[in-house]
Order: sequence, then structure tokens, then C-alpha cells
Amino acid sequence: MIRFFSIACFLGISIFQNTYAQQQFSAGPSWLKQATFYQLYPQSFKDSDGDGVGDLNGIVQKLDYLQNLGITAIWMNPIFESPFFDAGYDVADYYKIAPRYGNESNLRKLIEEAHKRNIKLVLDLVAGHTSDQHPWFKASAQKKKNEFTDRYIWTKSKSILPEKFVAGNFERNGNYLKNFFDCQPALNFGYVNPNPKNKWEQSISSPGAVAMRQELKKIIAYWMDMGVDGFRVDMASSLIKNDADFAATMQLWAEMRNWFQDKYPQGVLIAEWSNPAQSINAGFMIDFMMHFNVPGFPSMFFNKGGVFTRDTCFFSTDANGSADEFIKNYTDQLESTKGKGYVSVATANHDISRLNCGSRNTDEQLKVALAFLLTIKGIPFIYYGDEIGMRYLPDLPGKEGSILTNFGNVNRAGTRTPMQWDASANAGFSTADADKLYLPVDPNETFPNVAAEQSNPSSLFNFTKNLLALRKTTAGLGNEADIEFLNPADKSYPLVYIRSSGTEKYLVVINPSGKQESIVLNNFHSTTFTPLLVDKVVCKKDGNGIKIIADKTTYGIFKLN
Ligand code: GLC
Repeated sequence: MIRFFSIACFLGISIFQNTYAQQQFSAGPSWLKQATFYQLYPQSFKDSDGDGVGDLNGIVQKLDYLQNLGITAIWMNPIFESPFFDAGYDVADYYKIAPRYGNESNLRKLIEEAHKRNIKLVLDLVAGHTSDQHPWFKASAQKKKNEFTDRYIWTKSKSILPEKFVAGNFERNGNYLKNFFDCQPALNFGYVNPNPKNKWEQSISSPGAVAMRQELKKIIAYWMDMGVDGFRVDMASSLIKNDADFAATMQLWAEMRNWFQDKYPQGVLIAEWSNPAQSINAGFMIDFMMHFNVPGFPSMFFNKGGVFTRDTCFFSTDANGSADEFIKNYTDQLESTKGKGYVSVATANHDISRLNCGSRNTDEQLKVALAFLLTIKGIPFIYYGDEIGMRYLPDLPGKEGSILTNFGNVNRAGTRTPMQWDASANAGFSTADADKLYLPVDPNETFPNVAAEQSNPSSLFNFTKNLLALRKTTAGLGNEADIEFLNPADKSYPLVYIRSSGTEKYLVVINPSGKQESIVLNNFHSTTFTPLLVDKVVCKKDGNGIKIIADKTTYGIFKLN
């Protein structure tokens, strides 16, 4: 079968329909049904040795905190050997932990301690490229043929410089294809329909491309055998080139999933693809609705501050945004992945702004956004610090490739600042001198911190914790329960949806607006609305329907009968 597909891809036959009609992937291991992920930026979470950079032992110290919050899985950004020109997404050794984070015995300890607390640990796999400092790349840049000659994609001469190729001072007579920054040469997984005129295009069944697939399995197995619980795969859709409909890339991942599932039935594969309809049908168990490929996320969250900006968004007290684009794409994605995996809408990640950004900066506003994110279908992903309302810090200098020159010089550093544990020096993140910190802590003296938030019953932290607990104990609000949005096209505020599982039904009302908003829903037959977590939202029977009145910047979760 696999052989047929690779031959078909090689011949350029579109096998998308056939392939994926035949591959019936399950939604992954059963622990995902109740999973809540926490994305943790290792360099900024907790520094245990006072060098100003977070580390694995620091994470161990904070596992109780995560358990208390209700987290069941952690995804850590890359922790591997790297020159850190892209904060670790430029790997120089897939089999070695960067000394600044610790070593293998620290990782084993983290795995053990996390598992003791029923928390899974997921690593980041940078599958499409390495650092240009990687020994494979250095070998590949040699004139003399060697094992790594075809591990990257090279022109046959320095005089040829196609788009996205990078010239350099190499012994080899060629230029290489980059995958992201110049310092990130693309690994060679081959091209669909290689053009014989473009000598750098090798087929996906060429020895170099086949060797690369094998290496990927080897890397995955190395860390899975050590006890980690899976991988988030960076730029997962980028592997095979000239793959316009992604059919060959999907096939590659389908093959990987089959292998992975047999060997590690409890393991999880998460895509950074941002198109669940493709990635989940290719065998990934989770993918995000984020800022690229599938539209929707920006129209909900991106405002005038932060990394990528927009003039209007739904989560704004100005109430001039719309949830329509999001709902359309999100429901389409859910439909095409039903029963096969999870569509996740994260609170943020290390590439975009945090929820607390620009004019969205009060606990009230953040509670409404979290009420939405933690009551929709899919697996919640909380970006570290969003549970206490850490803000995107504007105007920081660039750090380790945080500035994206190819996207208008936006700066991701503001989302990557040290976790704010308490009100002591460096927010309790590190004992290093402030000028040694990975990034500065929020200079605002009243920044939110974990210690203060934990002791305040009405804090964002406790709100998040209560919401996660409610989600976990309420099947109708859980990761797999259905979702139905009820707003008519021309009415965005408040946003209203039903979650349901079996006979259980819940009504959720989300009003980010800075003023009171109401909506009438006809043909709504429930008669009782039991408030579960409600802040100034009222539902009343209204003829054969209901009228919902939501005070400014409020939310409501009701059980229906
Ligand atoms: C992904 C990562 C981003 C990184 C890029 C290149 O998008 O999330 O941080 O810079 O890939 O690896």
C-alpha cells in the first residue's frame, strides 16, 4: 500500500481522495479526551540555577503548580542543542539537550515527576530544517560526497540562486534551500513531480529523502523510549516541496502515524499546520486554528497591539469585530475531522501576542476570552502566564530571532518574557542579576503574579482553575462534546452557543463588548437555565424562544433542561 502511494506521488498522480478515504485514524489515545495542555517556554518558565535562563529542574519545581491549576499535559518548545538564532528552532543536535536547560538525567527526572502527577510531557520536533551549524549541514556543505550530501536541498552550482535559496561560503559548489530563516536549511524530504530542469529537486523516493524519513523516526523513537509522551511537530506541512495540495506530505505523516501508533499507542502527535482538515486526516491527533492557513483566529484576537495586528477583532470592548469568519472555519474544520482528532484554539503561543495585549488588558476582558477558549470544543492549550493575565510586553529588543524580518519586523519577544511567580526580584523567576535574564520581566510594578493570584478567590488564576475543573467534570463541556453556534449572521454580540453530549446540554454566552448586549433566539425550547459559572448574564423565556441579556464584558455558562 505504502509503496503504491509513493509510486503514485512520484508519478504525480493525485491520490488525496483515495489515500485519506482509506486511512481511518482514531482520535488518538484516550487520555486526550480529558486533556488540558500547557505550553511552556523553557527558557522563561523557571530558572533553578541562577543563570537567568529557565531550565528543566525549574520546571520540576513548578509541577505542583501546574497540577493544582488542572493541567494534564505540557508541551515544551525545543530543548535541544542549538546556537539559538531562532530560540531553539534551529537544532544543532536532535539527540542532545542544550546545556542551558540541563541534561538527559534532568529530563528523565522531569518525566518521572510529571508522570507522578499524571501530567504528560510533549517535546517539540523541528522536522523540516536544522540549524546551519548542525554537523549534518556542515558535512552536506563539503565538496566530497558523503552520507549527508543529499540530506539538504542544494543547487548544482553557486551560479544558480532560485527563490528561497541561500548563498554562502561553502566548499560545495551550490546554494541551499532555507525553510524559515536563512540559518535554517530545509531538510530534504523530496519534491512532488521533480522538474528535471531544476537539478536540486529530488523525488520523495530518492535515497536522500528516504533516509530523512528514517532519521525522523529515529529521533522520535529516541525520546519516546526515554519516556516522553509525544511531539508537537514544527511546520509539519513544510516537509515535501512542490506539494500544492499537501497530498504527499499528508501521506508522509500518515505513514509516520501508523508506525508511531503501533510502537507508542499512548503517544500523541500534534501538528503545527493550522489546517486540521489536512493534518488530522494525515494522522495528527491535534492541530491548531492559529494565525496562518485557516483564517479565523486573528479575527477573534489580534488587535492593534502585539505581534500581528489588526484594526478590529471580536474580543474587544469596542464591539466592532465579528466572530463569523472564525465560526465558519472552525465549524468546517470540526466537521472534516469529526471523531478523528482535535481542533485546538490556544490562548496564544510563542509566535503571537498574548490575550493581554493592547487595549485588551483588564481581568474582566481576559475572563471573557478565557470563558470562550475553555468552553469550546477541542483540547485547551494554555500558554504559560495566560492563566494569570501576563501581558504582551511591547518595545523589547530582539532576542534569539524573535524579530520576524520577513513579516514586517514584528517582535515575538513580548510574548516570551519570564513567568511571574511572585512580587520578589525578577518576579521570582530567577536569582540572577536583572541584566542577565533571558528577557526582562514586566517593568510594570503591579504585574500579576502567581502568589497573589492564588490567594485571591476572584483572580484570573482561580477563574481559569474553576473553569478547567468544570470542564473536566462536565461531559457536555468537554473536549469531544458537540458545539452549535446560535447567532444569526448579522448579530455578533453576545456570542451564544450550545455544548452538548448525550442528553446533557449547556448554553454559553460570551460578551466581550464594553456595553450591555442582548439577543433573542426564537424556537429555543429549554425552560430552565441553571447557572454554573455566570457573571451578570440573564436568560428569560420570550414567546417560543429566549432573550439573553449580558451586562458589559461578561460571560455565562448555564445548564439547560
Ligand atoms: C514555527 C515556530 C516558530 C519558528 C518557526 C521556524 O512556526 O513556532 O517559533 O520560528 O517555526 O522553526
